[in-house]
Amino acid sequence: MVQDSVILITGGAGFIGSHVVRRFIKSDKYKIINLDNLTYAGNLENLRDVENEPNYEFIKGDICDFKFLQKIFSENEFVGVIHLAAESHVDRSISNPMEFIQTNVVGTVNLLNAAKEAWEGKNDRRFYHVSTDEVYGSLGDEGFFTEETPYDPKSPYSASKASSDHFVRAYGNTYDLPFVISNCSNNYGPNHFPEKLIPLMIHNIKNRKPLPVYGKGENIRDWLYVEDHAGAIELIFEKGKIGETYNIGGFNEWKNIDLIHLLCDIMDKKLGNRQGTSSRLITFVKDRAGHDLRYAIDATKLNEELGWEPSLQFKEGLEKTVDWYFNNEKWLDDVTSGDYLKYYDEHYKNR
Ligand code: NAD
Ligand code: TYD
Repeated sequence: MVQDSVILITGGAGFIGSHVVRRFIKSDKYKIINLDNLTYAGNLENLRDVENEPNYEFIKGDICDFKFLQKIFSENEFVGVIHLAAESHVDRSISNPMEFIQTNVVGTVNLLNAAKEAWEGKNDRRFYHVSTDEVYGSLGDEGFFTEETPYDPKSPYSASKASSDHFVRAYGNTYDLPFVISNCSNNYGPNHFPEKLIPLMIHNIKNRKPLPVYGKGENIRDWLYVEDHAGAIELIFEKGKIGETYNIGGFNEWKNIDLIHLLCDIMDKKLGNRQGTSSRLITFVKDRAGHDLRYAIDATKLNEELGWEPSLQFKEGLEKTVDWYFNNEKWLDDVTSGDYLKYYDEHYKNR
């Protein structure tokens, strides 16, 4: 059944966006328009299995192009926007912050302007901004980020996301734009571009390349399986209160070095290696500049108000993820050829 309610999802060809788009297509309650300009991180292969569904349309376009946004808002009566398009890698934000300001800040404000203009006088719409826990800064050994934690972004990436969150709230306050925001912890799972920790390590273990661990590997991240994030997004889009923020996280903290050892063990078993083979590839490299020590999300509000909880244990999620990369070698080969390798070489030759 093709539905009359149309939702615009931006960044749907990327890692998290592709899981969100698939979930909404399958729910069959809306028509989905996926707007993505296919940067190095956007890949239509991520949605090959659903691209012919009648309630799905892909539009290639840039959120920084306001005239283009006006055109698609005039051609479609969007009941909601779920905004995921962004530059998303902290290391890239350190080497090229302007790109992050352009896409994450200017692009988001463009989208807000297009929605505000098209939704004038209509308050049954919602603008959902998908954001990160990194806006809260870095934790010490104790405590969690809650929705009340003051913003204290420390990397160019997190500063750009914090800025876009502020703009979304400012549009709610100033123009009554109906919005909702979620701030999620680190995701992992299928379709994750192999510049981020987990897929990079899977790729390198498979190819017997060094596993670059920044600093001493003592930094801590709170990992959530991507489909659990997509489920939370669906719930918040449909049931979250306008003007509210929801933190999303798995109560699943891992020190980088411990996580890498776990991944090495899982992969040694699957590859038929003697235990300890892959962990010998671990190579400690120069630390990331301004490296946030610890992220940990308190997702109590989302649990108590909307009944959400993560469905997968970490080891189970990692096994599924490794299996996906083993079964999708072509995907991995394609995205690790060309510009990616150039970036990778430039990035690591200074270490
Ligand atoms: P990603 O880098 O995998 O995908 C980003 C997508 O946005 C790509 O498909 C890309 O082509 C598209 N895009 C980039 N610039 C664009 C532009 N100017 N116009 C249109 N499309 C553009 O990112 P991801 O990891 O899937 O993250 C998605 C969102 O979730 C981001 O907003 C990110 O900040 C947020 N987030 C990510 C994580 C995580 O762990 N990855 C955690 C919390 C929040
Ligand atoms: P990343 O996946 O880039 O996510 P984020 O920086 O948004 O948390 O990195 C996760 C953690 O892994 C972070 O502490 C940096 C570290 N890291 C490494 O040690 N080596 C690597 O090659 C990468 C990409 C990350």
